[in-house]
Amino acid sequence: MPVSNPLWPAQLDHFRLDSDVPQALCAFYCQALGLEASPQADGTTLLDGPGRRLLIGTGRRGEQPFIAFRLPNTSQLAALAARLTDRGLELLPSPTPLFQVGALAVRDPDGRQVVFGLPRPHLSPGGRPTSLGVLPGRLQHVVVASQNLGPMLRFYEHGLGMVVSDTVREEDGTPTVGFLRTDPEHHSFAVFRAPQSRPDHHSYECTCWNDIRDWADHLAGLRIPLWWGPGRHGPGNNLFFMFQDPQGYLIELSAELEVVPDEVRGRFWKHEERTLNLWGPGFMRS
Ligand SMILES: [Fe+2]
Repeated sequence: MPVSNPLWPAQLDHFRLDSDVPQALCAFYCQALGLEASPQADGTTLLDGPGRRLLIGTGRRGEQPFIAFRLPNTSQLAALAARLTDRGLELLPSPTPLFQVGALAVRDPDGRQVVFGLPRPHLSPGGRPTSLGVLPGRLQHVVVASQNLGPMLRFYEHGLGMVVSDTVREEDGTPTVGFLRTDPEHHSFAVFRAPQSRPDHHSYECTCWNDIRDWADHLAGLRIPLWWGPGRHGPGNNLFFMFQDPQGYLIELSAELEVVPDEVRGRFWKHEERTLNLWGPGFMRS
């Protein structure tokens, strides 16, 4: 695929989530997702487990200041920087402590920073297995809701170079959701049309359906109820369920996410509940 596209391939590496009570949020995530906490020099806390990691910081409740994608080498990062500059985007210093010197960021139409870089060697993704983190779940995508869907989709597709896998649209053709990929997996990022711009969910890809069962049993032991699902999404064809963190941010466990052939771009789905859950009720953001 897009050999001339310097964003290809890239994978979601981590994101930052803020809270006015960060310690309580850290405790929830460590238990729920089997993560270990370690303080960072910038005041954030790294929550780390096999294949998954995030940063929690002190700030406005539920804010997601940035999402960070890793690239495989410095030459691709340099080519991406050139592309972004060529598109007229302002390159900002990287806000994450987890990437090497040379990482960069740009700001999307909703104000969120998107960071690109290479992981620091001793913090390679998926690094440390933990005693709690026995269940498989690789941080795979984040999804946001936006009141600026058109500008957001244009920014992520034409500005950054993500590839559109699927679009959900109204009868008259108005888009309501865009799913975008940065490697052959169906989406590493998506935007839902919504009355307010906000984070929507973050997703952890499991190895199979039985992992989904085991995660649900693990959460049952913590008395954390499922919020939506289990079900199967139309776009992406993945099995899923979701649960909420204490701030209402949704966490998804997923399996069987579609691997998209290179030639597939821009398929369309009808704006209806069935698109979001082939098995039953959908969660409609608009
Ligand atoms: Fe998802």
